[in-house]
Amino acid sequence: MTSPATRTRTQVGIVGAGPAGLLLSRLLALRGIDSVVVEARSRAYCEARQRAGLLEDGTVRLLRAAGLAGRLDREGLEHGGIYLQFDGERHHIDFRDLAEGRTVTVYAQTEIVKDLIAERTAAGAALHFEVAGTEVADLDTDRPLLRYTDSGGVAHEVECDVIAGCDGFHGICRPAVPDGVLSTVERAYPFAWLGILADVPPSTDELIYCRHDDGFALHSMRTPEVSRIYLQVPADEDIANWPDDRIWAEMQRRFAVPGWELKEGSITEKSITPMRSFVAAPMRYGRLFLAGDAAHIVPPTGAKGLNLALADVAVLTDALAALVLDRDHALADDYSRACLNRVWRATHFSWWMTSMLHIAPDADAMEAQLQLSQLRYVAASRAAATTLAENYVGYPPLRCGTLG
Ligand code: FAD
Ligand code: DHB
Repeated sequence: MTSPATRTRTQVGIVGAGPAGLLLSRLLALRGIDSVVVEARSRAYCEARQRAGLLEDGTVRLLRAAGLAGRLDREGLEHGGIYLQFDGERHHIDFRDLAEGRTVTVYAQTEIVKDLIAERTAAGAALHFEVAGTEVADLDTDRPLLRYTDSGGVAHEVECDVIAGCDGFHGICRPAVPDGVLSTVERAYPFAWLGILADVPPSTDELIYCRHDDGFALHSMRTPEVSRIYLQVPADEDIANWPDDRIWAEMQRRFAVPGWELKEGSITEKSITPMRSFVAAPMRYGRLFLAGDAAHIVPPTGAKGLNLALADVAVLTDALAALVLDRDHALADDYSRACLNRVWRATHFSWWMTSMLHIAPDADAMEAQLQLSQLRYVAASRAAATTLAENYVGYPPLRCGTLG
């Protein structure tokens, strides 16, 4: 006979200890609101999972206002622009000039997750790793339930005021919404990114977004000693086809410009990421609120995924504080609309950057010339460059209650 689940209570049950779930737990704690965070993976796995690396201006301000930017301010690399490369030429897009002094910061998602887990752990927050069998129930009542089995095999049932589904694209929260409630819009792109981390100082001071006839390439970085580089590869590519020598040879070819050298080093990580746009709406069902990748995915070109996830939870914190503390539903009722505005702007920008820089398998000469014309326009026109700059550095500053 299985023993009955241990029953507890919290104000906000949070599924997923990615950047969205962890930051939500911290922001709620700053308002005096309790939460329980459950995570399927181990702490070590969450802290090592290689993903995004670039923070918008508003994201940096949000993390600073939340008291989470000690290491980010010391170690983050502030960038005032990017390079756009096409037709064998490199052009600088100057964000400081075009976007009213705003900048972006290179600081890896792994480091944000480490900082958040350290803060949450030090604060004694309820943060449970390696849980199994997560379920959410009674979402259309005002006492939704979060069920899970902890790493020691003990079953738990947590009665919540609300549940936040921060469990990523493959999580259980979005599928828990009854059929017919959510509408989804989706596009799969016919290519993928092969990403590497390499122990070699970056060969550039700012990121290089490169359109080459053989495919897109992006030179990013993690620290002054570590480069992060991506190559467009076919959608169904097998990583076994990419030994290190082939990766470097391809990067040398795509990034080549006269008088510049790509430094090579030892590759410490490599993986292939599929590319997809996906938006589910509304981002709420009853007392379940979806945030981050659980609700939407963008292709990585333009680095919006992580920034969107953190923007959602800033908006969600205000909505949940009003709901839980004051029984005021107005912000909760507006949560989905408020987020989807930003989500669709980022979805458009990511699609635009992706379409302008990648070579589709069926692209013809017309497509190539249209891309090059668009790139020349961005490089030559202040108006066009400003459009790229203000989207890249981020949208109107995030408001989150008394923060920032
Ligand atoms: P996630 O980071 O996915 O976190 C969700 C968490 O929920 C995970 O820890 C997961 O283990 C947990 N979880 C899932 N199911 C359950 C369950 N049943 N019970 C408990 N826990 C559960 N964005 C960029 O801007 N630039 C990039 O270069 C970039 N690269 C990426 C590469 C990859 C391979 C992926 C998948 C994404 C990438 N992204 C990138 C997107 C960016 O990393 C995400 O937008 C960001 O991680 C979203 O944060 P999140 O907290 O919403 O979701
Ligand atoms: C990174 C990823 C991106 O998708 C991007 O547009 C810029 C930087 C990165 O991982 O560093």
